[in-house]
Amino acid sequence: MQDAIAVIDFGSQYTQLIVRRIRELGYFSRLYQPEELTETGKPAAVILSGGPRSTLDDDAPDIDFEYLRGLGVPILGVCYGMQLLNRKFGGEVAPGNTREYGPAKLYKKSDSPLFEGIAEESQIWMSHSDTCKMPETATILGENQDGIPVGLQWAEGCYGIQFHPEVSHSHEGTQILGNFLKLAVDPPEFKIDSFKDELIEKVKKEVAGRKVVCGVSGGVDSSVLAALLHEAKVNTRNIFVNNGLLRKNEVEDVIQIFESVGIDIEVVDASERFLTALAGETDPEKKRLIIGRMFVQVFFDAVGEDIGMLAQGTLYPDVIESATSGSMASTIKTHHNRVDRIMELKAEGRILEPLDSLFKDEVRELGRVLGLPEKVVGRHPFPGPGLAVRCPGEVTEEKLKIIQDADEIFINLLHEHGWYDKIWQAYAALIPTKTVGVKGDVRCYEYALSIRAVTSEDAMTAEWVHLPYELLGEISNRILNGVDGVNRVLYDISTKPPASIEWE
Ligand code: XMP
Repeated sequence: MQDAIAVIDFGSQYTQLIVRRIRELGYFSRLYQPEELTETGKPAAVILSGGPRSTLDDDAPDIDFEYLRGLGVPILGVCYGMQLLNRKFGGEVAPGNTREYGPAKLYKKSDSPLFEGIAEESQIWMSHSDTCKMPETATILGENQDGIPVGLQWAEGCYGIQFHPEVSHSHEGTQILGNFLKLAVDPPEFKIDSFKDELIEKVKKEVAGRKVVCGVSGGVDSSVLAALLHEAKVNTRNIFVNNGLLRKNEVEDVIQIFESVGIDIEVVDASERFLTALAGETDPEKKRLIIGRMFVQVFFDAVGEDIGMLAQGTLYPDVIESATSGSMASTIKTHHNRVDRIMELKAEGRILEPLDSLFKDEVRELGRVLGLPEKVVGRHPFPGPGLAVRCPGEVTEEKLKIIQDADEIFINLLHEHGWYDKIWQAYAALIPTKTVGVKGDVRCYEYALSIRAVTSEDAMTAEWVHLPYELLGEISNRILNGVDGVNRVLYDISTKPPASIEWE
């Protein structure tokens, strides 16, 4: 068997999606930077992704073409990848006058394995400005509505497409990717069952009999991690820190869930320490820092010196993001996973991150095959700093109680009406402004609440959910009648970007 299908990242916002689609098609795939081409081993096929740059720029990202061809495996260039390959195969690239972005048409021009079984005319999603002037030896496989080649073949097994097959707006995109993967040389399969067995073997080997400490939160990632360690019969201490910023009844729920699957956890109640440390602080970044530092302190106080390895539920998007961008998410990871003590452990080879090649949906699948209840694997993500990021301004017990009570009503109604599983994340946040209302014929000044529900792929972007008015009405009524201290409910209709998913 060859190594994973290598996707070379030239910086397109969609590159991660290519990896996902390949895995959805049942093959194992990994993302590499262009300079990591030599680290791909013997990949079964290589895909060069799109990117925001022009191959005509002086310092345009490049690829070691000789090495690439020397691999002797099928190659697919997407957008930037196609233009780069076109130049390497002796063609040229001309600067375009306009940037074409959005839907376009693909007209099939000749039969080829790449476009087998796709419609003569279909919708594709473009994002480019330059166009290819192909070498004479190339074959045009498809053109767009202006007669510009958007599908090329330069040599046996070497293809280029000017559109994004990985986005759902390219209607035949998955078929085209699937066709390309059929050409791959003995590709490794991606099935979560067999992957689980591989992971268990890897974990056992890496742990090598040492004692492992694992922080659990009741969230999907850490629960799956704990279940994996349990299945691998690793000697593990699972520590659950109650930071006082959790959802209503969360501590009891988490204890009950782990009990039901036979995994021991130690609960450390540090809620007072967290709330005291947060008192008076209103700056969002400082709040995060206080919580991050306190977590590390409380966690390592509980662990003491008794630590062989520390297991973390780092996922693939976290790894990719911290490697490739200076985004907010990588700052988040800095606070939570990259603090000094953890960096020390990392340098000593004492950090275990067995989920670091998986996407969230795959972690959920893994949790299912490990026997975790749906209640855990289907859970919405919950941020490390907890309700503090849903409580702009100072965090107080009074405000936390309002958020907890409203959140419980909202989430229960989403479950009741069959919406919870269709949503990436939903929650109530408090708006720290008191507005006027009337309760029992008396004017009152009470907080406003925001409720938010979004769909997303791995939290990079998000769309607000079009919940029915009737349901929104019921949620609002139940909150206004059931939660003290609130006289106004607002539904957040902001996409990410520009808004983030959380309030802080
Ligand atoms: P934003 O608000 O940045 O959130 O759009 C993206 C995703 O990350 C979660 N989130 C966090 N998770 N520590 C975490 O562990 C944090 O500080 C943090 N901030 C946001 C958020 O819930 C969403 O799923």
